[in-house]
Amino acid sequence: MALLTIEKKPTVDVLPAAQREAILADPGFGRHFTDHMVTITWTEGRGWHDGRLVPFGPLSLHPAANVLHYAQEVFEGLKAYRLPDGTTALFRPETNARRFQHSARRMAMPELPVTTFLQACEAHLRQDHAWVPEHGTEKSLYLRPFMVGTEPGLGMRPAAEYLFALIASPAAAYFAGDVEPLSIWVCEDRVRAVSGGVGDAKTGGNYAASLLAQTEAAARGCDQVAYLDAVEHRWVEELGAMNLFFVYEGRAGEPPTIVTPPLTGSLLAGVTRDSVLTLARELGWDTREAPVSVDQWQADAAEGTLTEVFACGTAAVLTPVGVVKRAGAEWTQGDGAPGRVTLKLRRMLLDIQRGLAGDRHGWVHRV
Ligand code: PLP
Ligand code: COI
Repeated sequence: MALLTIEKKPTVDVLPAAQREAILADPGFGRHFTDHMVTITWTEGRGWHDGRLVPFGPLSLHPAANVLHYAQEVFEGLKAYRLPDGTTALFRPETNARRFQHSARRMAMPELPVTTFLQACEAHLRQDHAWVPEHGTEKSLYLRPFMVGTEPGLGMRPAAEYLFALIASPAAAYFAGDVEPLSIWVCEDRVRAVSGGVGDAKTGGNYAASLLAQTEAAARGCDQVAYLDAVEHRWVEELGAMNLFFVYEGRAGEPPTIVTPPLTGSLLAGVTRDSVLTLARELGWDTREAPVSVDQWQADAAEGTLTEVFACGTAAVLTPVGVVKRAGAEWTQGDGAPGRVTLKLRRMLLDIQRGLAGDRHGWVHRV
């Protein structure tokens, strides 16, 4: 399939360089978008066709399009960084491509071939590379591939037509304070996802389901919500957009132990989570994918054996947790400041992503 044909001269409608530079000086997160986007169509019987790199702009959808009513939607999030030599690279895009397929399968949507996903990312990045912030900062270009059911009709069944699109947005640190520790509300009543449900698919409904608890957490002065399992309301799963890690610093001279909840099906298999586990194992640290209860979290923090907690995700990289609140209790994690283990892993990851450290795992995908 000759996939990505350039439909329109890409120099048309490009934002003037001075305006782009002004945005890149202070991009925020998800507020500004680059000049182009990729679109690819899927139709039953025909498969994927009409791949295009087109100027960024509104999509036209039938008011009865499946996604608007029955929410067949999946998305991904990955970052492009500028390397020291001025070229650009994506971080582990094949992993995102495979997770996109996993999400699509769960939502009864067609799977985009991994090579096509990569082709879309590369075509976009080659065109809009000027939007990748300069090397030497923590800024990046955040790529957001997504797919929606576009077939019109109110019948309750998988759509027979889909649109894949890829847009991109320059990004500063996701949280305003950079490595400023987060405050977490442990939500013991509302749940984000259930066993057997769609929690391990990156689908918009999971995020919609988390917004009310997020609003309630904000009203309690917290930045993020930690969700528990939906059966016992006891086992920590993840935050609304990040995985969680618990760090037990060993006695002097002993390596730390880092623990993260196992992939039970109701939480997202984060690419950052996997990268952190890999890096920690390489350091010879004890890494465990094991259940952590909220009571254990509170008790170990009080005892002082739980020395650090951090959240991780593409948008947020690694961010320490400083304060934790749950119904009837509140505690400060350690001394409330970013911990040694968190900062070390964060630095290692960022250095690999930005081409400052060796890439032993082939994670850095140069474009
Ligand atoms: N959990 C949820 C619910 C997320 O939305 C994300 C962000 O993508 C993550 C975890 C972390 O995943 P990743 O490291 O692949 O970005
Ligand atoms: C990501 O880290 O890519 C995410 O999906 C977070 C996003 C929901 C803001």
